Amino acid sequence: METQAGEPYDLKSFDVEFKGVEFSYKDGVKVIDGISFTAKQNTVTAFVGPSGCGKTTVLRLMSRLYDYDSGEITIDGKDIKTIDADSLFDKISIVFQDVMLFNTSVLENIRLGNRSAADEEVKKAAELANCTEFIEKLPEKYDTFIGENGAKLSGGERQRISIARAFLKNAPIIILDEISASLDVENEMAIQGSLNKLLENRTVVIISHRLKSVENADKIIVMNEGKIDAKGSHDELLKSSELYRTLIEKSQATEKFAY
Ligand SMILES: Nc1ncnc2c1ncn2[C@@H]1O[C@H](COP(=O)(O)OP(=O)(O)O)[C@@H](O)[C@H]1O
Ligand SMILES: [Mg+2]
Repeated sequence: METQAGEPYDLKSFDVEFKGVEFSYKDGVKVIDGISFTAKQNTVTAFVGPSGCGKTTVLRLMSRLYDYDSGEITIDGKDIKTIDADSLFDKISIVFQDVMLFNTSVLENIRLGNRSAADEEVKKAAELANCTEFIEKLPEKYDTFIGENGAKLSGGERQRISIARAFLKNAPIIILDEISASLDVENEMAIQGSLNKLLENRTVVIISHRLKSVENADKIIVMNEGKIDAKGSHDELLKSSELYRTLIEKSQATEKFAY
């Protein structure tokens, strides 16, 4: 479904609420099948669940990359369909699996987080996202062109550029989708500190296949086939959700290979 226009609106508080939300990419196949939850301001809400259960779609609906079919999604109590895209995108930083990069300089790629930022601010964001080490090694440092879709950078380096953008944007809502997927363990540890700093005092919604990084979330939502299977803290879910226990076991098995 195409997104509708909406009016400019200045969002002031940042609880994100889903009420009975349904969504299909194509007719007859409900990918999101009646989901309700609140991602509270200043907390971390994490989504886990088997591949294909609809986690990424939830994040797309929240950021209006697609519009939901029925139910309601509100931010600050306001239906997001009634807010225009610019007012909404101003308040949301999205760090997805597939980073959009352009064949221009490193500096300009990071500046996309905030087009009016001065060079010094861009470099500060790069530092916070642990980019300086690899940027210093590039032939022309911050002025190096990074190739079509960032082809001259590794997956982890591209990911860190997108984290730098999020630091620069400094939005009150942050959405992270499998951002550790293209980071090796060493890189992941290197950015963990700066990532924690990025996530402070915002509405954070995160998907991670490494369940270790969601254990500390304030609320974990377990999804299965477009529905919510269970919600709670890590300890609560270990007791209440068989699916959660299975996911944890699988994730521990793959992490043994990773380490
Ligand atoms: N752009 C799209 N068009 C049609 N179907 C899609 C699209 N994106 C995802 N899907 C389907 O929607 C379902 C949920 O996908 P997704 O939200 O990506 O799951 P997850 O992130 O949990 O792996 C899957 O069956 C997937 O194939
Ligand atoms: Mg996904």
